[in-house]
Amino acid sequence: MGKGTQMTDDLKRIAAEKAVDDFVKDGMTVGLGTGSTAYHAIRRVGELVNKGFKLKCVATSLQTENIAEECGITVVDLDEVDQIDVTIDGADEVDPDMQLIKGLGGALLREKIVAASTAFEVIVVDESKLVEKLGTKSPLPVEVLKFGHLKTKKALERQGCIAVLRVKDDKTFVTDNGNYVYDCKFSGIDNPFFLESRINVIPGVVDNGLFLNTAAAVIVSSADGNVRVMNR
Ligand code: A5P
Repeated sequence: MGKGTQMTDDLKRIAAEKAVDDFVKDGMTVGLGTGSTAYHAIRRVGELVNKGFKLKCVATSLQTENIAEECGITVVDLDEVDQIDVTIDGADEVDPDMQLIKGLGGALLREKIVAASTAFEVIVVDESKLVEKLGTKSPLPVEVLKFGHLKTKKALERQGCIAVLRVKDDKTFVTDNGNYVYDCKFSGIDNPFFLESRINVIPGVVDNGLFLNTAAAVIVSSADGNVRVMNR
């Protein structure tokens, strides 16, 4: 890992560990996010479990389930719990109103389903994820059915973006749910609520990476050593 990458990873770890230390209590049901920042939260939750905390954990992806199990965490199915007390997850962009773009890691659908069953969603990011307007740094990932996906792409582009089918390791990326992802590049998203309502009615769209009014708290770590918590 290069020096810059190591520093970014340290920032991710600091935010993720603070989230676990501040919000996870013994006896809770905990949602485990996906991605390189959530990874550190999963490891910290594993430390708590190994100390004797009794936690029920729900994973937002197969990758997270595997990491959790390696850390000694027992993962239960979402439908085995009534509600999740707290979920700790990463994000690709966070705007000043705590609205988010998620899904560059490919897990947006399960992340959104888990978030919808969560009482308190905590987002952990390093400061590079902060934006004034959503869609300025990150594309908006949209999960679509394979069937007719080129038609779905055209309909997405009618919303004012360039939609690129995601490829990973030279192969078309397939989500845990067997779907494709289009990364939709907008030159900034002026009205995320309106855009979300337009995208989600396109036949073939399964869900999109706008997470609006989802985050209850955002923990942001900065290179100057500062860690701050944004609240609603
Ligand atoms: C996974 O699908 C995503 O929503 C991630 O939470 C998001 O991409 C952030 O990932 P990193 O923490 O790896 O940047």
